[in-house]
Amino acid sequence: MIALVTGASSGIGRDIARSLAMHGINVIITARRRDRLAELKKELVEKYGVKVMTIAADLTDERQCFELYKRVKKYNIDILINNAGFGVFGKFSDTDLESELDMLDVNIRAFHILFKLFLRDFKARGCGYILNTASAAGFLPGPYFSSYYASKAYIVRMTQAVAEELRSEHSGVHVSMLCPGPVATEFEEKARVHFAIPAASSPKLAEKAVRGMFGGELMICSDPINKASIYAAKLIPDSLLALGARISQSSRKPY
Ligand SMILES: NC(=O)c1ccc[n+]([C@@H]2O[C@H](COP(=O)([O-])OP(=O)(O)OC[C@H]3O[C@@H](n4cnc5c(N)ncnc54)[C@H](OP(=O)(O)O)[C@@H]3O)[C@@H](O)[C@H]2O)c1
Repeated sequence: MIALVTGASSGIGRDIARSLAMHGINVIITARRRDRLAELKKELVEKYGVKVMTIAADLTDERQCFELYKRVKKYNIDILINNAGFGVFGKFSDTDLESELDMLDVNIRAFHILFKLFLRDFKARGCGYILNTASAAGFLPGPYFSSYYASKAYIVRMTQAVAEELRSEHSGVHVSMLCPGPVATEFEEKARVHFAIPAASSPKLAEKAVRGMFGGELMICSDPINKASIYAAKLIPDSLLALGARISQSSRKPY
């Protein structure tokens, strides 16, 4: 089997690439930082003896999303880990518009392009796995993190809807979404803000994500509290969720 992992230069994507390699799956790893990809390639080849290809690509650029797809198509990818993403923290009226548009290009546009192109190929073949990295944030309004939370809601709703289409077709293609709360990665540093609550372990989450994906789970969480909070949020009015989220976000300290 062979997997394409986006956002593989650090954090959750890098750990998912490690978990896949540990299960004997060859990987194509992509992100912007070539040095990080080269380091990971060396580690995975030496430790697990799998085949690893690195492709440097900036997913804010739509053309590079299509080029990435074209370059890997010939390898008949079995698994897409659609994971690259980042957050821009701050009051919506104050955050930098260009940074936010870049974020939307990666978190929504690149996610969408890769989801569709690989889904089409997988459906034509009748099998395949797609794991989209969403977030528990996708189930909440997120004051001071508004566009990031909204971008994750897009991934949640897209994944749920496509999963239902596939279910109704009795398809052999499986889609899952990873919905953790805070995870210890470079996310905080890039968003320039600390988490308000303790973060989950990225390697543990990655292994859970890989097992959940192969087990056909639609929503994969980091732990029972993470899962319970997503279900509990469905019982609370949005205005109260927004208030609670604002209070929690206000307690975050700058990075
Ligand atoms: N950490 C959390 O608390 C948490 C919780 C829920 C969901 N998530 C989601 O998990 C995913 C991975 O984030 P992480 O926590 O692992 O953070 P991370 O350590 O910062 O990793 C982000 C990855 O995305 C890549 N990326 C960012 N911008 C990119 C671009 N323009 N083009 C290509 N790749 C790009 C980065 O690679 P380069 O910089 O090398 O390009 C990096 O590999 C994201 O979708 C995030 O929203 C994170």
